[in-house]
Amino acid sequence: MKAIIICESVSHGNTLKVANAIAEVIGANVVKPAEFDAGTACDYDLIGLGSGIYYGKHHKSLMELAEKLPNCRKSVFIFSTSGKGAISQHRHLSDIISRKGYRNAGEFTCKGWDTWGPLKYIGGINRGLPNDAMIERAREFARGLKA
Ligand SMILES: Cc1cc2nc3c(=O)[nH]c(=O)nc-3n(C[C@H](O)[C@H](O)[C@H](O)COP(=O)(O)O)c2cc1C
Repeated sequence: MKAIIICESVSHGNTLKVANAIAEVIGANVVKPAEFDAGTACDYDLIGLGSGIYYGKHHKSLMELAEKLPNCRKSVFIFSTSGKGAISQHRHLSDIISRKGYRNAGEFTCKGWDTWGPLKYIGGINRGLPNDAMIERAREFARGLKA
């Protein structure tokens, strides 16, 4: 199985920790959206898309890349970290993916250290997250992708 993970992790590297854990299990490289040529998407059996959540959506660079992906009926999985840790915030990205005819292979989310706006004055929320247990959950999710 040829897999690639495309991850934007600009705030604290929270989502990159999840990306690296999944990558190790499925044997994939992790690249940024700006480094990925959307035209090569059909070369992969499995594509992972992940970032922090910003204003209720994945990072703009990832959303824009998703819009450029050609429709080749391959499998995509979606992941994120965020203040809320709510999978409902994947909806905008998963809508694009399904509109383009990709199979949704699964979704993973967990909480991440969040210093959005005034939260920074109190040191943010979810400090120290994702923790080891969450990273282990990400590995478990990745083992399911391989199965
Ligand atoms: C400008 C800004 C907007 C954010 N918007 C949301 C949001 O809408 N929902 C949420 O749950 N978390 C939100 N967050 C928290 C981030 O999603 C969270 O810190 C995430 O783990 C960052 O991931 P990263 O370190 O990989 O970039 C926001 C953070 C920032 C800085």
